[in-house]
Amino acid sequence: MTLKSTLFALSSFLGIAIAGSALAQSGENTYKQVCASCHGAGVLNAPKFGDKAKWAPLIAEGQVTLTAHGYVGVRAMPPKGGNPNLSIEGFADALVYMVNNSGGKWTSPNAQTIAAINKEVEARKAGLNKKQ
Ligand code: HEC
Repeated sequence: MTLKSTLFALSSFLGIAIAGSALAQSGENTYKQVCASCHGAGVLNAPKFGDKAKWAPLIAEGQVTLTAHGYVGVRAMPPKGGNPNLSIEGFADALVYMVNNSGGKWTSPNAQTIAAINKEVEARKAGLNKKQ
């Protein structure tokens, strides 16, 4: 391989990598595609997007707890927002978007916070199984 062709191969590889990362959904997109159908209008009594009074006590539970409980599902709130392919990171970012438009100020969770959320997800599932 010549230097030129190596560079070409490298740049096209990087091009694919950049295009690939653009496929990772933003919290706003995930919210619109997965959560808005219920949380936009308050279907089934879902806490409505932008309703600060409804969100305040939920936000007070903290990011780890609220994200984990929402991901596992709560009463009429389906697990993973009803999308079985939604990752914990994707769910968390959609929730950050919803919270930040409803009176809160959260940031996209880092690896440490994701680990804590995953731990709470397992604890929540174990607790729910015990009740059944
Ligand atoms: C099929 C409708 C539906 C969809 C889709 C949905 N939700 Fe919900 N969600 C609800 C309802 C209903 C509640 C209220 C549950 C209750 O308290 O009885 C709720 C509650 C919640 C709560 C509060 C949980 C708690 O601990 O009280 C969070 C957080 C949440 N949703 C996040 C999301 C996110 C993020 C998405 C999208 C990824 C999503 N929801 C998609 C219906 C939905």
